[in-house]
Amino acid sequence: MTPRITDAIKTDHRELENHYNKILSASTEREKIHWKNLFIWELARHSIGEELVVYPVFEKSLPDGRAMADKDRHEHNMIKDHLQKFQNMQPSNPELEPTLNSLMNNLSQHIQEEENNDFPKLEDAISSEESEKLSTSFARIKMFVPTPSYASSSAPDKPPFESAVGLMAAPIDHLANRFRAWLHTSAMPDSSAG
Ligand SMILES: [Fe+2]
Ligand SMILES: [Fe+2]
Repeated sequence: MTPRITDAIKTDHRELENHYNKILSASTEREKIHWKNLFIWELARHSIGEELVVYPVFEKSLPDGRAMADKDRHEHNMIKDHLQKFQNMQPSNPELEPTLNSLMNNLSQHIQEEENNDFPKLEDAISSEESEKLSTSFARIKMFVPTPSYASSSAPDKPPFESAVGLMAAPIDHLANRFRAWLHTSAMPDSSAG
């Protein structure tokens, strides 16, 4: 059964919280790198999914949707700044946890607003069919932005996460065009983030 968009979003939010806790409780550097990579990648992908698939529907379906989407995009941008800083830190860096915690403060507040305000309003304004369609498109984002094999690896010689944060920094219109073009072909997307 296809979940409603709210359920798909909440599943991601819980996963991000889980990754965050795993980074903090990791007992080795390798383990920390592993969860750090997954956290960065999942957050990049989740944010892109919301910006490409969900926020435009806020604007279309809700009277105050434009303001809501603008606020959410602004919060994403603040989170991206923290994420960029966090990405560049070695696990031994004493600033790593404070940076992650301040990222998570912003993210938790954003998540709460989405779950308590934005998504309930959206669900009230659209039909079950529309909600399920959105969640199908949202799931397609995960195929458009697949987790690279090195993301789940903790090997220290693997490349840093420039591509995930680089992807988040790409102009959203450019990503939207590529995503739409990709949806209309069955081919796998070009994985270069340019
Ligand atoms: Fe969001
Ligand atoms: Fe979210």
